[in-house]
Amino acid sequence: MPLLRGNLQMITEKQSRFDFDLLADKYESWYESAKGRMYDRLEKRAISRYLSPSAKGKKLLEIGCGTGHWSRFFSEYGFEVTGVDISERMIDIAKGRNISNASFQLADGHSLPFADETFDVTAAFTTLEFVRDAEMVVQEMVRCTRKPSGQLLIGVLNALARLNRNRQQTPESLYAKARLFSPDQLKKLLSKYGKAQLCTTGFIPRWKHLLPLSPFIYAVGRFLHLQYGVFIAGQVRL
Ligand SMILES: C[S@@+](CC[C@H](N)C(=O)[O-])C[C@H]1O[C@@H](n2cnc3c(N)ncnc32)[C@H](O)[C@@H]1O
Repeated sequence: MPLLRGNLQMITEKQSRFDFDLLADKYESWYESAKGRMYDRLEKRAISRYLSPSAKGKKLLEIGCGTGHWSRFFSEYGFEVTGVDISERMIDIAKGRNISNASFQLADGHSLPFADETFDVTAAFTTLEFVRDAEMVVQEMVRCTRKPSGQLLIGVLNALARLNRNRQQTPESLYAKARLFSPDQLKKLLSKYGKAQLCTTGFIPRWKHLLPLSPFIYAVGRFLHLQYGVFIAGQVRL
């Protein structure tokens, strides 16, 4: 067993830019904070615009599912969800939440343990920034998605957002290790597989008492097609 654990740790280190086992136990506390809740609300609103009205009988694979935060959202939407992550601790937490219609397993996004075209939708949220090779992970996602008519859903931290660039200045933080994407870079990555649609979201004021204005700022940002939101939401129809 110690040998197995040692090998797993080596694989994790090679395939992920950050060891999320270290953060897993406090990961959900971000989503519970006032700012975290607002970002989450705006990100889900942006991604929901790409979802078909019905998910009944559809299978969704989430790469880098972490604690199962987005998996729960998709299961509530009606998908049958499979979540994978390279962090053992993240997977333990996701399993412990007993999310209905969702199963979780340890797997590396660079080589997914699923047959070609198993899923209707494959998704990854703030994961491509942390994998060793994002191009290879997207290629694996495409392989596992039905064609024609399958869908890729992606969310990444925006390299053009000042908040993200500031976050990267803190050495040893997870952000310092991340590969951020600009909207153009993400579009280039996804356009190989079909017509990519993107929008940025997460225009949130720095001051807590102005947080309730965020949905309004989001609406203005979307209307003006601003490129500087903290989060980029994207989709490709295969
Ligand atoms: C920032 S967290 C995002 C978690 C979740 N998607 C969310 O938004 O709450 C990034 C996740 O990607 C996972 N990850 C990193 N490299 C991976 C890889 N090669 N294969 C699968 N998961 C990976 C990490 O373990 C971590 O749980």
